[in-house]
Amino acid sequence: MTEDELEQAFYRRIENEEKIEPKDWMPEGYRQNLIRQISQHAHSEVIGMQPEGNWITRAPSLRRKAILLAKVQDEGGHGLYLYSTAETLGISRAEMIEALQSCKAKYASIFNYPAQTWADVGAIGWLVDGAAIVNQVSLQRTSYGPYSRSMIRICKEESFHQRQGYELMLTLCRGTEEQKAMAQDALNRFYWPALMMFGPHDSESAHSAKSMQWKIKRESNDDLRQKFIDQTVPQIEFLGLEHPDKDIRWNEERGHYDHGEIDWDEFYRVISGNGPCNRQRIQHHIRVHEEGAWVRDAMSAYQQKKRQRAQAA
Ligand SMILES: [Fe+2]
Ligand SMILES: [Fe+2]
Repeated sequence: MTEDELEQAFYRRIENEEKIEPKDWMPEGYRQNLIRQISQHAHSEVIGMQPEGNWITRAPSLRRKAILLAKVQDEGGHGLYLYSTAETLGISRAEMIEALQSCKAKYASIFNYPAQTWADVGAIGWLVDGAAIVNQVSLQRTSYGPYSRSMIRICKEESFHQRQGYELMLTLCRGTEEQKAMAQDALNRFYWPALMMFGPHDSESAHSAKSMQWKIKRESNDDLRQKFIDQTVPQIEFLGLEHPDKDIRWNEERGHYDHGEIDWDEFYRVISGNGPCNRQRIQHHIRVHEEGAWVRDAMSAYQQKKRQRAQAA
């Protein structure tokens, strides 16, 4: 088949909702776009372990500690699935890690905010994992087979993350005045950065149009954000907290909530490396990666030994 015929066949398969698999022909732009998105997603899972991991030793009870430990460990697992998924597109783990540590690759800007109080652990589970689920449920229908399958698996665990966060918030809101105030403060600080997780407006998004055409993305940033805004209003009401967005109003005609504008200057400041914790997050990653070098060395030495033994036999 000529290049043109291959491309036509590729678009026919996209049109017919068939999944594209690693060994199938695909346009170079499609491959690169997927590598960027999936590796960025993997980095987000792994960097996201830091703000919450910070609270494992200070969890207020054994039950909370066990829940948080399981949650943070899940995120590490999500990172590993996603790095493996990206590797099927011909990039190595080492190249992806290099891109992260040299700040060439991005990760979700929300993880550059610190988890200052115990209530932040609740707000992160409820809002950050909640926003991630809205995005990832949509990505279960993405056109690249391995990415779609990893999303299906990851979403099952994400819903546990979201629920544990909301349950933590509910406990605080039913506690003392001080605990409720702590929950309100966490909501106020994490609400807007959670909305930013959906990315810029579609009109401003560099990769959106092409990703939609390739069916890598199935719903636009603004549509997904609206879904999240709509589902969060009754959750805030049930907690008995005040909504951080003073412009939130039900719009009967649209069948959605109208809302205030995001501070996009803040978004671009944080995503370009100048959020509260950007440097700290990368430095921590580099340090732990270096400390783990002996594990990687031991694994490759063992693999080599196994190969030599097999050859000798
Ligand atoms: Fe995750
Ligand atoms: Fe999660």
